[in-house]
Amino acid sequence: MAKIMDGKALAKKMQEKLAEKVKALKEEFDTIPGLVVILVGDNPASQIYVKNKEKAALAAGFKSETVRLSESISQEELIQIIHDYNLDSSIHGILVQLPLPQHINDKKIILEISPDKDVDGFHPMNTGHLWSGRPLMVPCTPAGIMELISECGIDLEGKNAVIIGRSNIVGKPMAQLLLDKNATVTLAHSRTRHLEKIAKRADILIVAIGQGHFITKEFVKEGAVVIDVGMNRDDQGKLIGDVDSEQVAKVASYLTPVPGGVGPMTITMLLEQTYQSALRRVSQ
Ligand code: GUN
Repeated sequence: MAKIMDGKALAKKMQEKLAEKVKALKEEFDTIPGLVVILVGDNPASQIYVKNKEKAALAAGFKSETVRLSESISQEELIQIIHDYNLDSSIHGILVQLPLPQHINDKKIILEISPDKDVDGFHPMNTGHLWSGRPLMVPCTPAGIMELISECGIDLEGKNAVIIGRSNIVGKPMAQLLLDKNATVTLAHSRTRHLEKIAKRADILIVAIGQGHFITKEFVKEGAVVIDVGMNRDDQGKLIGDVDSEQVAKVASYLTPVPGGVGPMTITMLLEQTYQSALRRVSQ
């Protein structure tokens, strides 16, 4: 039976440590890390994410602002708001929740966030830093997965890592982080042929495709580490991962649960990077 990689417990531990670091930063430099989350429209999943981020930020002693904007806001108005926060010295992290409405070009929006406040690590300047081996701001979900892998004492050197899903948020940055740890990385996606066979070669299998229970035991090698990034709803509205956990737990050595695996780590890394951004500012 697979061991559970408990993201909830690690997130709690890291956020408690972070709260202490935030206190020390305030005492030493009279600075409170400030995070603003910008939400456009009323996508229900985004609303939940944003609320959780706000709650965690406040609990760790951060200054937390949430800007809720109407679905009909223009791209220019949104850019103006971002520019205002770029100049606001009490803010060290700016996050624009994705997805954005159709009429707004998310790539253009990301370019407007000051790279030193881009705590999502989505700005091309930060993706460039990551790919050149000098990571600064790293996308939070892959960064959280790396923490979880390290906490479980899993060695990546020379291992076969297979990532399914090539998004800018998870798959692509995940590949670079695993490569940095000397894994041999395969980045598979919706057009990949013989997916089952490729997945079965993985010592570490990371799945981020957004299809409930897609990964059955046929995709998993005996003893593999399986990381499930999926957040889907089943017919009853229950939250389920991309991995059929009941089946896969019987063959994997480690498995992340959904919920309570990757999700809490994403928020933790967002806070950690906002703290680091504040620390860099006062240390300059
Ligand atoms: N939507 C889903 N995941 C994320 C994330 O990590 N950052 C942002 N900004 N939006 C998201």
